[in-house]
Amino acid sequence: MLRRVAANVAVNSWKGNIFELDHKLIMARQLHARRIEGIDKNIWVEFTQLAADYKVVNLGQGFPDFSPPSYIQEAFCKAVNGGCSMHQYTHAFGHPPLVSILAKFFGRVVGHEIDAFEDILVTVGAYQALFCTFQALVDEDDEVIIIEPFFDCYQPMVKMAGGKGVYVPLRPRVEGGKALTSADWVLSSEELASKFNPRTKAIVINTPNNPLGKVYKREELQVIADLCIKHDVVCISDEVYEWLTYDGAKHVKIASLPGMWERTVTIGSGGKSFSATGWKVGWAIGAGPIVKHLKTVHQNSVYHCATAAQV
Ligand SMILES: Cc1ncc(COP(=O)(O)O)c(C=O)c1O
Repeated sequence: MLRRVAANVAVNSWKGNIFELDHKLIMARQLHARRIEGIDKNIWVEFTQLAADYKVVNLGQGFPDFSPPSYIQEAFCKAVNGGCSMHQYTHAFGHPPLVSILAKFFGRVVGHEIDAFEDILVTVGAYQALFCTFQALVDEDDEVIIIEPFFDCYQPMVKMAGGKGVYVPLRPRVEGGKALTSADWVLSSEELASKFNPRTKAIVINTPNNPLGKVYKREELQVIADLCIKHDVVCISDEVYEWLTYDGAKHVKIASLPGMWERTVTIGSGGKSFSATGWKVGWAIGAGPIVKHLKTVHQNSVYHCATAAQV
């Protein structure tokens, strides 16, 4: 009994110390790592809460308000009921049947043979694929070109990796007072070229683009590809909306352009493709010598993604 009282007193005073340190900021040393400085506030966290509090439609975070196709739901139920192995760990870099089908399928789309076990990393959504990519490839003081407007996580992820974002805008092309379409948001090749220098490590592109909906044309991608090759820069291509194209727009993978497979990480999302964003199954696909570094980050952080969702 006495021993228990003594233990409680110790825990209370320990808790008290922590409380004081946290709230009065009297720690002698800095508590947080410098890499998170300036990225602690996130506008979407704030807006999502405000939208919930005031019961307004949240246009900031997009997810379907309808169910995924029934064949996908049935497949998930079948996987969950598929026996013991469905509930246990699988291969750390991707469930073998999933990486095999991704390799076969995307190999045809990219026009390059894809090795299921070398060239693919399955992640907790495209978000984790992006995180692994930036952590694995961007070093202290590396520059990363980001095309504006962009999906908001690129900027803090580059910063957390120690890199510096360098921004180049898509600019509206207005002709004869005609209404703009997403295709009228264009990059100036001169302006883009001016951002490349010996410190440039990577460029992030997002096609189809969030938030504009712009689907980059082959010629536009070729300009980016030529600069990547000329300056020996990696292309991080976020293609989570690759199956959402309209009005005849055709999605082209920059990895399929000559000389680009070797220097592109293509990021995809099962959640976006199948209207099941909550499942959080994504992937990074690229040449083995690049993807092996993403695997290092993955194995030392998340290590493994939910087996049944991958099935
Ligand atoms: C452009 C873009 N990339 C990546 C993601 C993250 O995708 P996931 O839900 O698969 O993590 C999103 C989600 O909204 C997105 O819009």
